[in-house]
Amino acid sequence: MAQDPAAGEKVFRMCMACHAVGEGAKNKIGPELNGIIGRQPGHMEGFQYSPAMVSFGEGKVWDEALLDQYLENPRTVVKGTKMAFGGLRRPEQRADVIAYLATFSQ
Ligand code: HEM
Repeated sequence: MAQDPAAGEKVFRMCMACHAVGEGAKNKIGPELNGIIGRQPGHMEGFQYSPAMVSFGEGKVWDEALLDQYLENPRTVVKGTKMAFGGLRRPEQRADVIAYLATFSQ
């Protein structure tokens, strides 16, 4: 699937009410997303996650495939998540926003 980080930057506008990424990004309603690919879900120090997200993260690391599942339907994949977002139904939107986030991950 073609991944377009520039298109993903536009998709990320839907996330910006709650998330920041990039230089100087701070936690908002949701955690800052620098380095999200390779991070353990629900375990960044300084952010208060839902218990559901903390236990979801046990033994896991965010990679493209797991982000794709979560972003399609957050509240189904992590039952009890406090991320109040319905999800991105279109695969290309998910691929693009993940490609955008990857530009802030190692
Ligand atoms: C958690 C991505 C939209 C609020 C997360 C996490 C990711 C993510 C990857 C897990 C972070 C981690 O494990 O450290 C996105 C993307 C969005 C989006 C790409 C847009 C497509 C939103 C919106 C809100 C929100 C609109 C607020 C209405 C949260 C909250 C958490 C979270 C509160 C913590 C969840 C918990 O502890 O259960 N988000 N998010 N997100 N997000 Fe979002």
